[in-house]
Amino acid sequence: MSHAEDHEGTRRDFLYYATAGAGAVTVGAAVWPLVNQMNPSADVRALASIRVDVSGVGTGSQLTVKWLGKPVFIRRRTEEEIAAAREVELSDLPDQSAENANIAAGSEAVDANRTLDEAGEWLVMMGVCTHLGCVPLGNAGDFGGWFCPCHGSHYDTAGRIRRGPAPSNLPVPTAEFVDETTIKLG
Ligand code: FES
Repeated sequence: MSHAEDHEGTRRDFLYYATAGAGAVTVGAAVWPLVNQMNPSADVRALASIRVDVSGVGTGSQLTVKWLGKPVFIRRRTEEEIAAAREVELSDLPDQSAENANIAAGSEAVDANRTLDEAGEWLVMMGVCTHLGCVPLGNAGDFGGWFCPCHGSHYDTAGRIRRGPAPSNLPVPTAEFVDETTIKLG
């Protein structure tokens, strides 16, 4: 590797970590007040299960929260994103399993099996690339979903891997709406 390439690689890594760090700080500010209101003796349970207020998440935007030490993407999808995800044939998917902890293992990766609500507006998934664990960028990549710049994995608007080295879809963690504007993780 030439010196120039080495420098470029270092710089890219630095930018990645700097970005991830800034995200984590923002997330902390959004999430910890909720956790702090809980009974202190429930600290451990609070970490295993958190409630996220999504009332401020507008259509077409994404909230990233830190849960169990990892980023979780909560995206409120646009009509276009939903339509794009729903018109994809199962046979076009490298990983045809829904990878959704809320439904039976091995369920098909059709869009309806990925989202939290029936209308398909809410998509909740771990923000960790299934290749080697980088945090993918939103609104990016060849399929309008997420793009992992570490080695070039493209995810679609349902978080399903479509191109690149990642072997599987971004996993959907245990999650549910506990009221109209609150999502419980875990
Ligand atoms: S870690 Fe995402 S493509 Fe390698």
